[in-house]
Amino acid sequence: MACKVVLEIIFALLHFMNHLRTQLTRQGMKLIDIGANLTDPVFRGLYRGKQSHPDDMQQILDRARAAGVVAMMVTGGNLHESKEAIALAREFPGLYATVGCHPTRTSEVDKHSAGADAYFAELQDLAEKNRDKVVAIGECGLDYDRLHFSDKEPQHKYFARQFALAEATKLPMFLHNRNTGGDFAKMIKENRHRFSTGVVHSYTGPIDEAKELLEMGLYIGLNGCSLKTEENLEVAKQIPVDRLMIETDCPYCEIRPTHASHKLLKPENSDGWKAPEAKKKERWTPECMVKSRNEPCMIRQVLQVLASLHGISEQDLADQVFENTRKVFFPDQDI
Ligand SMILES: *[C@@H]1O[C@H](CO)[C@@H](O)[C@H](O)[C@H]1NC(C)=O
Ligand SMILES: [Zn+2]
Repeated sequence: MACKVVLEIIFALLHFMNHLRTQLTRQGMKLIDIGANLTDPVFRGLYRGKQSHPDDMQQILDRARAAGVVAMMVTGGNLHESKEAIALAREFPGLYATVGCHPTRTSEVDKHSAGADAYFAELQDLAEKNRDKVVAIGECGLDYDRLHFSDKEPQHKYFARQFALAEATKLPMFLHNRNTGGDFAKMIKENRHRFSTGVVHSYTGPIDEAKELLEMGLYIGLNGCSLKTEENLEVAKQIPVDRLMIETDCPYCEIRPTHASHKLLKPENSDGWKAPEAKKKERWTPECMVKSRNEPCMIRQVLQVLASLHGISEQDLADQVFENTRKVFFPDQDI
């Protein structure tokens, strides 16, 4: 009888220690999603103005936490969204915000009722009054893939203005560059003395351009969109890990079966993390992700692919990328 009790205690202890070990390894993988557009209404269950399922922001953040995502940078795409991003960062722990105007939104600046100067003064004011939550100026840069939203002229004019914001606030920059020939790198070069450093997020360009940006001391951010083709994978392989940051760019840029990166995915991460099941939005349940709505926990897949390309362990890559990101965007925050 006594023997049975002792055995039971031993089993319980072993079970507990195993549980503890898994918990500890989980805590070991600390990640920061530098690009999460959590102000998008789809994270509240609203798709094109239609409520398809309940608001599941909390579940999304719980899944992120379970994946080791300790901080997320909510991207501000314009003045209004920057305010929303800060409000979200105030509401949920672990969220931080960027403040700026996306290249495709620069045509809005001249339409601002109080004028362009007031627009940027308001952005600066937002950054200065929310120092604990605002970690970067951006998203800003140039985008020649979507000139139908904003022409080159406002893009150039108002990208330039955001170097002044970085200079005034001493914040690093969260940069966007899409198909700009050498124009983006040229503008960075001209203004490089005005800001400390920054990340060129969602990088999809050629290796020469990446090298030029790296030489100027910038970091490169990679997500599912940066890993679509074999050429993308070649570029990703050549970004030094001490200059790498990772992101989801959710709700966009998930890794899809048609992407070159997909063949590098494993059924689970090295510490046993598995992607939660995804269901169509019409079949939503709280514990499931929604099909084709990317979310921060899926940064684990980006990590898998990059660890495999660089031939290092997920843990080592996670540690290095965490340190890069902490140093640039969270020098004062306790994350
Ligand atoms: C974030 O999502 C909103 C809503 O869909 C969209 O208007 C905005 O352009 C997105 N911002 C960025 C930076 O992609
Ligand atoms: Zn972008």
